[in-house]
Amino acid sequence: MGSIVGALIVTHTPRMADEFTAPAFTREMIRGMHELGEVVAQLRPDALIQASTHWVTTFNHYVLGHKRHRGILTSSEAPEIIAGVPYDFPGDPGLAEAMAAKGREKDIPVICTAAEPFMLEYGTVNPIRYLTPKFDVPVVPVSSCLLADIPECIRWGEAIAEAIRDSSKRVVVIASGALSHKLVRGPETWPSEESQRLDHQFVDLATQGRADELKSFFPSFAKTVEAEMGGRHLAILLGATGGAFRGKLHAYGPSSGTGNAVVSLTPA
Ligand SMILES: [Fe+2]
Repeated sequence: MGSIVGALIVTHTPRMADEFTAPAFTREMIRGMHELGEVVAQLRPDALIQASTHWVTTFNHYVLGHKRHRGILTSSEAPEIIAGVPYDFPGDPGLAEAMAAKGREKDIPVICTAAEPFMLEYGTVNPIRYLTPKFDVPVVPVSSCLLADIPECIRWGEAIAEAIRDSSKRVVVIASGALSHKLVRGPETWPSEESQRLDHQFVDLATQGRADELKSFFPSFAKTVEAEMGGRHLAILLGATGGAFRGKLHAYGPSSGTGNAVVSLTPA
């Protein structure tokens, strides 16, 4: 029987794509991301499943079933920051297919694709460069579906957890995206004090495994702080873990007015 051995909330702020030229305001987040790399190394998972707020799909949830994710990333959103970044890491087609089948079994529209060529976006690639610096752990990327509301994303997370349990794999589930997401111009700008307070309230509930409080707090939190992509990435993680994992906040930092938490969770 498989299991979720860990869950992570990660930042993908574009300015950390190249660690060596990253500006000062990203340093704390980069330090936290390296700590998560150590967490992943200790957990030794068979696969990572990562929901990214930057892989936006409209009608269906998608999972990538490529044997290998290989390409050169230029971000159409920020090509002056991310251009010509090579990536090459393994996928897990079997797990991807099983996740999609389990979702469809629960009437959630999920498609597993291995379309070629396929260019990943930086919300997927940036964190993986820190989480598995040797690119040696298979990754199943998951999209954020616009027509899916929060309850559907939670059910999708539950379906992912069931697919993992039905497998023989030890898996880490990852939400790649910001918490509060009230964007402004100025990359080093922090969120308002109120947004920061709510972000930390969310993190406290999540890291203390206060599942019932977290589930009732989350929908209004996501709306109030305008969580990235409506908080769909966090809802998938919440569905997968049931909100009952415990862990710690490794870092919290700004990016153009958004609040970015770096969090690790393990089953209580
Ligand atoms: Fe983002």
